[in-house]
Amino acid sequence: MQNFFYSIPTKVEFGKGAVKKLPEFVKEFGTRVLIVYGGGSIKRTGLYDTVIKLLDDNGIYHAELSGVEPNPRVTTANKGAKICKEEGIEVVLPIGGGSTIDCAKAIAAGAFYDGDIWDMVKDNSLMTKALPLITILTLAATGSEMDVFSVISNMETNEKMGLDGYVLYPKYSILDPEYTYSVPKYQTASGTADIMNHIMEVYFNGVEGTYMQDRIMEGLLKTCVHYGPIACETPKDYDARANLMWTASWAINGFISCGKAGPWPCHAMEHQLSAYYDVTHGHGLAILTPVWMEYTLNEKTVDMFVNYGQGVFGLSPELEKYEAARQAIQKTREVFEAMGLTMTLRSIGIEDKSKFEVMAEQAVAAGTESCFVPLHKEDVIEIFNRCF
Ligand code: NZQ
Ligand code: ZN
Repeated sequence: MQNFFYSIPTKVEFGKGAVKKLPEFVKEFGTRVLIVYGGGSIKRTGLYDTVIKLLDDNGIYHAELSGVEPNPRVTTANKGAKICKEEGIEVVLPIGGGSTIDCAKAIAAGAFYDGDIWDMVKDNSLMTKALPLITILTLAATGSEMDVFSVISNMETNEKMGLDGYVLYPKYSILDPEYTYSVPKYQTASGTADIMNHIMEVYFNGVEGTYMQDRIMEGLLKTCVHYGPIACETPKDYDARANLMWTASWAINGFISCGKAGPWPCHAMEHQLSAYYDVTHGHGLAILTPVWMEYTLNEKTVDMFVNYGQGVFGLSPELEKYEAARQAIQKTREVFEAMGLTMTLRSIGIEDKSKFEVMAEQAVAAGTESCFVPLHKEDVIEIFNRCF
């Protein structure tokens, strides 16, 4: 197990009615709020009205930035940072999924930066501080509500990159599983695939001596395998939504990677799919994951796949190790398919292979060569080809 520093400073208010605590949390930092949200979902569900009333009743000023895109654009984040500066904003309040929260994080940091936020995304050391963030999550997926990452897209340059720093941990996150009842099946499935891949990126990174973390990760993965399909079929199943929501946060809040840190190959590859084709992140991962597993299955990795198969899918210890590994990979694919996700790049609108080379170069630049099974440019191209 590696040495590590452990601190997860985000305070979480979890459960039905949790939003009532919002004014109290805001007032710890000020009385001027920027609400950040995406399309129409929070208005359709009534959450928007609830929040506005809570803020108004408590004398909290609020400005707004709406229209944050899935795969949030740096241009939108720049608009938000401008509002923060002009309006003397003290707290940034994203209401939505990972895209909204990520955009809000970039805004919170951008409020202290004179220039284009893209400079900071390209060079994270330019980020010195950020406004306090309080998040209200509506989609269990990215874990942005409890982590340090903000993933921002620049559609002009076809780049999707992370802004990453301790100052981006939200101060509070309000997690009410009922706010995820309205998440469509497709986003529920994609979100679950994203959660699973966050865990797998750590589980399969080859760092040894992490028995405790590995067993916790198997528990988190089992939770997704069990509840993902249930939430897809029964969107108002509270336990399914609650378990997925809390798993999403724990998949990436830094706990499981304590002592087991390493690069994330599937994310490095998927971010290129989103950057060039604006695809749904979790669906891109669901397509890549089983293919990447098959591609990296070898003598060095086979025991990890056996443990995974036994711990997550209850495979028999009697199975020959490669047979167990292959069954584990097939079961992974079946979980995604059971939630209705298609398994080819063509099915998500990638109609030719013309960008694979440049996408592979960018995936390599994002770190695939330093993974446990190093992926060079030609390996990434081959994985894209097999996914096609
Ligand atoms: O725009 P709105 O109206 O909010 O609708 C959204 C959007 O269309 C909808 N939605 C969200 N909550 C809903 C709802 N619809 C109905 N009812 C609700 N309660 O779902 C759609 C997708 O939302 P989005 O926020 O884009 O999804 P997600 O949470 O999966 O976020 C994806 C983004 O996060 C990045 C991804 O790359 C992608 O840009 N990631 C962020 C990470 C992080 N911060 O740690 C890590 C991840 O690996 C990932 O890269
Ligand atoms: Zn992800």
